Amino acid sequence: MSHDAQTREYREYIESYLKNLYGEFRDQPQKPLYQAMEYSLLAGGKRLRPIFAFEFCRLCGGDWHTAAPFAAAVEMIHTYSLIHDDLPCMDNDDYRRGRLTNHKVFGEGMAVLAGDALLTDAFMVAAKARLPKPEDMATAVGILAECAGSLGMVGGQVLDIMSQERELSEQEVLAIQSRKTGALISAACSLGVIAGGGTEAQFDAACQFAAGLGLAFQIRDDMLDVIGTQAELGKATGVDAEKNTFVRLYGLERCEELVQKYTDYAISALSAFENTEYITALAKSLTDRRV
Ligand code: IPE
Ligand code: IPE
Ligand code: MG
Ligand code: MG
Ligand code: MG
Repeated sequence: MSHDAQTREYREYIESYLKNLYGEFRDQPQKPLYQAMEYSLLAGGKRLRPIFAFEFCRLCGGDWHTAAPFAAAVEMIHTYSLIHDDLPCMDNDDYRRGRLTNHKVFGEGMAVLAGDALLTDAFMVAAKARLPKPEDMATAVGILAECAGSLGMVGGQVLDIMSQERELSEQEVLAIQSRKTGALISAACSLGVIAGGGTEAQFDAACQFAAGLGLAFQIRDDMLDVIGTQAELGKATGVDAEKNTFVRLYGLERCEELVQKYTDYAISALSAFENTEYITALAKSLTDRRV
């Protein structure tokens, strides 16, 4: 299967999985909540985290469909993080994934609650996974919580807010990026390994891959804030100029080198697996992404 066909297959599967998630609940009295949740959840997006979950499951010799509940759970948490990130009290953005941000359409109260529900429901969805080793479920759910919460994405967002008050060192910016973006990517990769019944060495390798890729991904995101366009990205650009991003610290050219460096580091972790052509090509393609 070609690279693009594989990506399409993964994407179509997660799209339809997410679309079917709330089918039976939509008629509940809290219907507007589902409308707000689905408005953001089904708004497209690259679905990169689900793709990583599927692919690491496959790399471990599993049937990649097994990873679907984990892939969906991570994407739900990611979507909630974007809804809250866009709120006026956070980044105050009007556009996301090519449409108005959640709070612009549904109001701030509903946007907060849609995020809360996506986060919480993610654990309900993750718990549906049928794992090769069912006793791994507690570990998997623990990883998801750790990557999403105070030690992971939320912790990173807090450091991001705190960072606006002063200049940071490279180490400090790395600490922000690896938490606010790297942690959920790490959850996707490591839960993929668990769904595939992978070994401890493969788990460690997936974490190393995610650590490198997460940094490269966020540095590229910060570059796109400067060199990208709203038409391509579906979100406004030029909004993080005041923030302590790598672009601000080092400029675009050095950032390009850093994206390369962290992507190489990510790829070097893949020697624990066979048939790594797809994931290697995917990681490389993200270095000069425009979206
Ligand atoms: C955007 O993530 C926010 C970051 C963590 C950098 P993505 O670039 O993966 O956004 P979508 O899911 O494709 O919309
Ligand atoms: C957000 O980083 C990371 C999250 C945890 C949501 P940014 O604030 O740079 O993400 P965008 O650029 O709004 O997508
Ligand atoms: Mg932000
Ligand atoms: Mg933002
Ligand atoms: Mg950004």
